[in-house]
Amino acid sequence: SKGKYEHYMQKEIHEQPESLTTTMRGRLIRDGSSKRKSVLLGGLKDHLKTIRRSRRIVFIGCGTSYNAALAARPILEELCGIPVTMEIASDLLDRQAPVYRDDTIIFVSQSGETADTLNALEYAQENGALCVGITNTVGSSIARSTHCGVHINAGSEIGVASTKAYTSQIVVMAMVALAIGADSISTSQRREGIIESLLNLPGKIREVLKLDEEMKDLARSLISEQSLLMFGRGYNYATALEGALKVKEVALMHSEGMLAGEMKHGPLALVDENLPIVVIATRDQCFSKQQSVIQQLKARKGRLIVMCTEGDAEAVCGGSCPVIEVPHIVDCLQPVVNIVPLQLLAYHLTVLRGYNVDQPRNLAKSVTTE
Ligand code: UD1
Ligand code: M6R
Repeated sequence: SKGKYEHYMQKEIHEQPESLTTTMRGRLIRDGSSKRKSVLLGGLKDHLKTIRRSRRIVFIGCGTSYNAALAARPILEELCGIPVTMEIASDLLDRQAPVYRDDTIIFVSQSGETADTLNALEYAQENGALCVGITNTVGSSIARSTHCGVHINAGSEIGVASTKAYTSQIVVMAMVALAIGADSISTSQRREGIIESLLNLPGKIREVLKLDEEMKDLARSLISEQSLLMFGRGYNYATALEGALKVKEVALMHSEGMLAGEMKHGPLALVDENLPIVVIATRDQCFSKQQSVIQQLKARKGRLIVMCTEGDAEAVCGGSCPVIEVPHIVDCLQPVVNIVPLQLLAYHLTVLRGYNVDQPRNLAKSVTTE
């Protein structure tokens, strides 16, 4: 039931502090008698050695599940030192792309029933790869057909727009990276820092949810726009893609997420004083590059909305544009925090524009046909 909420999407956005807590429950454990914590994923522990020996890791998914994998890719690359490639399920099949016996293929799916992902799984099985599932639905086709995997335990998701599953998927994939990389001494401090931040994450989500009213006001200012662009990079390239996917699928407004590093290679031509552009510029290794993107967009009179770290409003745009200030967390978990205001924005835009929030036209929760 929706409880005190008007829509499932709204409820599912607001329950993320709890769903993330459930996702992590029993999986961050104390190392022997020491104070240190490590990750225990029951479904993967017997397969970690095989995964560490694989030649590459391939993520496969569709829609939001693909975006979640994209958000987790950098931490997997960093902690595992194995090349990680990304595949949209239908595209892998269209190309009949090479898949090898020494590949680890991770299938990401909330429902566990998406036809494209299931077909890609069958193809990877035929080619002898180790197939790992990251699913929210126990007993689903993908959970049953993979060699091993991890349930994200986010609780059932009813709104067609995936919200709480996205954040739980990223957290599970970060934990997968920690588990695969657990045999490395050189990254142990980095891993401890991430585990510490995982424990603080539900509190940060509770904080960022306080932006609800602010996002409603921002939605009001965008209600009759034709289009909304989102620029991100690094860990937050995925945030731009996922924010734009939410806006297009529920608010029925054209929206594109773009890699900020590609701006000069085409999208810059679209910039004028009318087209609203969300620029994600929270503090991480990409911050100074994003600051220079903001300067370049301002020089072309771009209409910016900047997402930045709390206290950075002045630094990022000198008070000259609307800002979304979010709490800071370790880089690889920042996309979990950053997506929340964009989920709220898409939700309020949809309600204000008078569209169906939980059942957008032409879409189904689970896409069981090609
Ligand atoms: C499991 C139990 C959980 C219990 C916990 C206690 C289940 C579903 N989970 O959780 O109730 O509290 O032990 O130790 O009974 N799998 C796949 N593909 C997927 C997802 C999972 O093959 O896409 C497999 C895993 O490899 C594993 C099993 O399903 O063998 C359960 O996975 P998961 O629920 O993530 O395991 P635990 O967290 O250990
Ligand atoms: O159940 P899955 O995660 O496999 O679904 C994949 C996509 O169909 C799904 O994420 C879709 O993009 C959502 N409607 C996005 O909100």
